[in-house]
Amino acid sequence: MKKIAIIGGSGLEDPAILKEVTEVNVETPYGAPSSSFKCGKIGGVEVAILSRHGRDHSIPPSTVNNRANIWAIKELGCTHILATTACGSLRLEIGRGDIVMLDQFIDFTRFRKNSFVEEFEDGQLNHPAMADPFNWHLRQALIENAKALDLGFHKSGTVITIEGPRFSTRAESNMFRVWGADVINMSTAPECALANELEIPYAAVALSTDYDCWNVDEAPVTWEEVLNVFNENVKHVIALLQNTITSLQKQGRVNG
Ligand code: ADE
Repeated sequence: MKKIAIIGGSGLEDPAILKEVTEVNVETPYGAPSSSFKCGKIGGVEVAILSRHGRDHSIPPSTVNNRANIWAIKELGCTHILATTACGSLRLEIGRGDIVMLDQFIDFTRFRKNSFVEEFEDGQLNHPAMADPFNWHLRQALIENAKALDLGFHKSGTVITIEGPRFSTRAESNMFRVWGADVINMSTAPECALANELEIPYAAVALSTDYDCWNVDEAPVTWEEVLNVFNENVKHVIALLQNTITSLQKQGRVNG
């Protein structure tokens, strides 16, 4: 039986989208994951939902135990990960409320455990490949379903993940634009890298909530703005996840 993990980001701490819900706690060699898993079904498919920042949003970005989260997802037998994240837009054409199907990341985090590789065992050098870290099939399914739902979305985009919890300075924000980043957040890069290391196909639905601070026509981003815009648009993210999971099952990519 295959299973989909949803990692819910800010604003999606406790989505009531599951049928036949049970709560499952998982321990890992890396410690406890951010929350228990809410396990249940969407359209007949087994789904396990983890809350990245804890159900009460008490875990700041730098202290999210990404290794425990991804390890626990593998331990639970999940075969795919769909993550959600709020992000700031670094491009005028990515408006508030738009969804971006991320296809690349730049890791600008500094203090996080971003690999399971701690030593080279038996002389085996282990340098995980990371050229295309977001799963193509999952992204295609998200794109098709976003089209069908008539959502405002972008087929691809590079996310830069910063350490946080502070937002960027204007100089940083401008630099990230020059580097080619399209959106900015505080979660995706290490999480996605770790999923790749454990060979779990991973895709992320990034909801644009603000223009960070490069856009001098706007007031710099605040956390209240991020949450307000996310909450206004969360129904789109939930509909997209539900329809995508159902369509993956129809394609035979997951068994219900
Ligand atoms: N999450 C949402 N908006 C953000 C921004 N502007 N910078 C970093 N993380 C974010």
